[in-house]
Amino acid sequence: MICDGRIDLSSARLNDDMISQISNLYIVACGSAYNVGLTMQYMAEELSGITTRVELASEFRYRKINYQENSLVVIISQSGETADSLAALREAKKYGIRTLGIVNVVGSSIAREADHVLYTHAGPEISVATTKAYSTQLVVGYLLILQIALSRNDISVEEYTGLIEEIMMIPEKIGCILDSKEQIQCFANKLVNAYSMFFIGRNSDYATSLESSLKLKELSYIHSEAYPAGELKHGPISLIEEGTPVIGIMTQSELYEKTANNLIEVKSRGAYIAAITVFGKYNAGEIADFTFYIPNISPYFAGSLSVVPMQLLAYYISVAKGYDVDKPRNLAKSVTVE
Ligand code: M6R
Repeated sequence: MICDGRIDLSSARLNDDMISQISNLYIVACGSAYNVGLTMQYMAEELSGITTRVELASEFRYRKINYQENSLVVIISQSGETADSLAALREAKKYGIRTLGIVNVVGSSIAREADHVLYTHAGPEISVATTKAYSTQLVVGYLLILQIALSRNDISVEEYTGLIEEIMMIPEKIGCILDSKEQIQCFANKLVNAYSMFFIGRNSDYATSLESSLKLKELSYIHSEAYPAGELKHGPISLIEEGTPVIGIMTQSELYEKTANNLIEVKSRGAYIAAITVFGKYNAGEIADFTFYIPNISPYFAGSLSVVPMQLLAYYISVAKGYDVDKPRNLAKSVTVE
């Protein structure tokens, strides 16, 4: 999809003209794929200014949508068979709205029925909890938004090229995080007996919080909630007790202090605090009981890095509890019924 430093979406039969005509985006998905959509939404609005709405497919399919003529409905699905996502796609098509699938499984129903398809090429995903599909969906999402931003002249060619170079660095930076996985294993050992946990963040860090919480629930069966950090005091802070783990994801420089303050608030109520942030934000270590630093990267792509320690956290807790990490209870790899 990246060729000579440029994004090439011709495999999806999308040309620059079509892309420049898109008036607004509806991103529709379930579970982790929805969390990818939320990350895309923050990026789309900040980088390109294109109006973007992200919806859970199970809700979207039953809503009355007043589509604009040149809307694009983007359906994200690893399996390409998720019943609600497929139904949402068909619903959009009924209105004659252009659809694009971001899909992993080649030839799946969503891939076949969408007007355009971008494959994530993550390879077969066997384990129920998605990780590599999530990472690849994010990257395809970034590329789509970048191309939209360029076609609308919302960013310069230099900015576009610089951001593509940053995307190309993601694998190496994930490698650096994996080199420090023992830190996460130690942290996980402290949380094995937790009853409930909270993940907080703002902007795309909130999307990563949702994904972190979902992974933890799926793999460790520990109850957890993800909240936009600013929402804590509108209710959930009443659940904080002595020792309740609260993990703050703080990769967005402009919002760092805000979330750090939220962590201080819950700490004063007895919470056990962890911070996931970027190198340089060293005062996080003074606030938090555990701090994990990710390599610096454009804030648009930080979710690709910050999710990794959180995936590892869920994995290590699950292993420590003796659970089957690949086959969590009550879950199917692909939800083909409503
Ligand atoms: O195959 P899909 O991407 O459409 O699946 C969507 C969700 O069911 C899926 O992401 C689910 O949330 C995963 N088990 C999360 O790990």
